[in-house]
Amino acid sequence: MTAALELREVRKKFGRTEIIRGVNLDVAKGERHALIGPNGAGKSTTFNLISGRFSPSSGTVKLNGVDIGGLPPYKINRMGLSRSFQVTNIFHRLSVFENLRCSVLWALGYRYSFWHRLGQLRDARERADEVLELIGLQGRRDTHAGLLTYAEQRALEIGITIAGGAEVILLDEPTAGMSRSESDHAVELIHRVTIGKTLVMVEHDMSVVFGLADRISVLVYGEVIATDTPEAIRNNRSVKEAYLGTTLDEPAGAH
Ligand SMILES: Nc1ncnc2c1ncn2[C@@H]1O[C@H](COP(=O)(O)OP(=O)(O)OP(=O)(O)O)[C@@H](O)[C@H]1O
Ligand SMILES: [Mg+2]
Repeated sequence: MTAALELREVRKKFGRTEIIRGVNLDVAKGERHALIGPNGAGKSTTFNLISGRFSPSSGTVKLNGVDIGGLPPYKINRMGLSRSFQVTNIFHRLSVFENLRCSVLWALGYRYSFWHRLGQLRDARERADEVLELIGLQGRRDTHAGLLTYAEQRALEIGITIAGGAEVILLDEPTAGMSRSESDHAVELIHRVTIGKTLVMVEHDMSVVFGLADRISVLVYGEVIATDTPEAIRNNRSVKEAYLGTTLDEPAGAH
């Protein structure tokens, strides 16, 4: 079966510094895959290479078997891939519902001349309300996004990411900065919204990783040093060394 995502010998240089040094990564359709690794390893950069924000210096990136390396983000998005950012990225002065409706519109094929009749677009309204329910923010429908709690903003962001119906979802540290109970709740949410889809997530919190991932890839200094099941990764010697014997054995979530 064709992989949802396939990276082969992907490299990325910024000036003279090679940050991504020959990444190989395969994500199967329907899989939930976690990308872990120390700070500065190149995880977000890898996401940027997949989503089209950066183009690779060399190597290939395929989405459902189609080469997407060097395509602009909007084209890759139309081909069924959607991502969230490490830093919260929502419209603070729009309501929760309006934020979702914006992201639905593009996916439904509405382009540049729709603003004057926004209120009449029933399909967009219905889809936005559907996503609202899926992310559990019905009670906050008409609240300005800027007034939500941090955890609610991250939930909204996940809603925005999935609203367009993409089949491959990339989430960059969706639970960063959350309390234990908030991130437990986020795990449940991420699980629910990615049923039947393919997920790749960057995550530092090991209990989130172990709670969601079918497989884990470990990125260290611009290279994937291991890809395996959570159990095998937990016991992998070179992975432990890369983490200096820390995080992996801990229950995690010390914040
Ligand atoms: N646009 C850029 N220009 C130059 N260097 C960059 C650029 N983007 C990232 N880098 C560098 O690439 C390296 C990897 O950064 P990246 O953000 O991908 O790491 P990360 O694994 O996501 O780290 P973190 O866990 O802290 O989010 C860092 O040294 C960073 O400074
Ligand atoms: Mg990052």
